Amino acid sequence: MSDAQPTSSAPVLEVEDVTKRFGGVQALRGVSLAIRPGRVHAVIGENGAGKSTLMKIMAGVLAPDSGRLLVDGRPVELRSVQAALGHGIALIHQELNLCDNLDVGANIFLGREPRRWGTIDFAAIGQDAKKYLDAVGLNVPPDTLVGELTIAQQQLVEIAKALSVGGRVLIMDEPTSSLSQREVDALFAIIDKLRDEGAAIVYISHRLAEVQRLADEVTVLRDGEIAGRLQRHEINHDSLVQLMVGRDISQFYARRPHEVGEPVLEVRGLRTQAWPQHAVDLTVRRGEMVGLAGLVGAGRSELLRAIFGVDVPVAGHVRLHGKLLPTGRCRAAIEAGLALVPEDRKQQGLILPMAVRTNIGLPGLARHKIAGAILNRRREAEDTRRMIDAMRIKTSSPRQAVQNLSGGNQQKVVIGKWLAMDPWCLLLDEPTRGVDIGAKQEIYRLMEELAERGVAILFASSEMEEVISMSDLVVVMHEGQVMGELVGEQITEEAIMHLATGNTAATTGV
Ligand SMILES: Nc1ncnc2c1ncn2[C@@H]1O[C@H](COP(=O)(O)OP(=O)(O)OP(=O)(O)O)[C@@H](O)[C@H]1O
Ligand SMILES: [Mg+2]
Repeated sequence: MSDAQPTSSAPVLEVEDVTKRFGGVQALRGVSLAIRPGRVHAVIGENGAGKSTLMKIMAGVLAPDSGRLLVDGRPVELRSVQAALGHGIALIHQELNLCDNLDVGANIFLGREPRRWGTIDFAAIGQDAKKYLDAVGLNVPPDTLVGELTIAQQQLVEIAKALSVGGRVLIMDEPTSSLSQREVDALFAIIDKLRDEGAAIVYISHRLAEVQRLADEVTVLRDGEIAGRLQRHEINHDSLVQLMVGRDISQFYARRPHEVGEPVLEVRGLRTQAWPQHAVDLTVRRGEMVGLAGLVGAGRSELLRAIFGVDVPVAGHVRLHGKLLPTGRCRAAIEAGLALVPEDRKQQGLILPMAVRTNIGLPGLARHKIAGAILNRRREAEDTRRMIDAMRIKTSSPRQAVQNLSGGNQQKVVIGKWLAMDPWCLLLDEPTRGVDIGAKQEIYRLMEELAERGVAILFASSEMEEVISMSDLVVVMHEGQVMGELVGEQITEEAIMHLATGNTAATTGV
């Protein structure tokens, strides 16, 4: 279109002056963007800035209110996902989109199954699927059910699917939020390879280190507008943060020291169904923050779920303030003052079609029902208002359906819902997943306030900085077993990694 430099290749996909409104929310306002082959283009911004909305428009999921899209310099209308795929544009969603009950091959070819004599040619699916699975380094038979794969593997299936349509533009919306470090490295290797082969990658992440590692250029969105653009040599932590939030935020949270009191949560001899061979003992005291560290798959979520009683433990027991909790009954646990903010908000934390307000009122609802009382709507409204303010949840109204909030804001609703209960002991599983750096600090501040008020906090986290800066005590797990505990000066990245990879405490000098 314009006189582009001969050195930089022509864009495959351009977004021109795009606007999108949802009811009272202006999600995008005059956004323009050029995506070029052989480059990784990162799009960053705070929760609710409009990133996913922009990606959905580029991939034919949503239509813009105004503005236009160009492919290879020619205006196109992407009326559907199929239409976008036809142009080689594929979106790997923030919330994965595969059909659990279909096998891998069927997912890759969903809606365009190769046919022979009028029927679906399963042999061809198997062969073709294998080719694309090899390309992304996923070593599973094509007839494996998607529901049986890990999230990392499901993501690779999505990428294989995109490649199978001859994808030239691959859009990845927070692809690493549920991956272990090893899986992240594998994904980055694939991204590097695809880039070298000339694919255009659009990459969204709240992890600025990833953006620095991958991006050739960065576009920053703020409140639906372009806040700035950076080229490779301008990309660093401070420039990214400054453009994103308009102020400096330290990478680390500075905690205020406070008193730790008597034991609140006592876990004794607990054996989970996932790792029945290992008995877990741990104690969380009044006002204490205990970080549960380990690699993905170390058994942290299973442990939290067994403590809370969503899963029935094989053996062992849990006491709260000395009182024995009945095993495998989370309702009793809630009544006793225990709360769990789960890992997977989509499956365990929220009822997506219901209002923000109803979701925040949910645990309370159970309590009111048990008491045989009528639901107190005014209390619910008050709780909701308090939480929306305290956590700066970006929603047009408390009546907004949770599924219409941005990913990070949904996470805040999950946390808000449990905080509204005023628990004695709060269990959190990956509390800041998908949350922007500003909101992360909000969540840390809330956790600290709760601890200062005497709440005992046990949180699992895969983010090293989070574990190190927020924990009074770190409990490190490996394959369902507690490998060691670290306090004070002992809490270092090296010591945590040493234990997390299955070594015992001896050589760390603990
Ligand atoms: N279907 C919808 N209905 C109503 N509002 C919506 C809908 N989809 C998005 N929004 C609103 O548009 C704004 C932008 O949302 P979007 O999902 O694009 O944010 P995001 O930048 O991806 O955030 P996050 O980092 O939290 O994923 C938010 O305020 C969100 O609540
Ligand atoms: Mg998003």
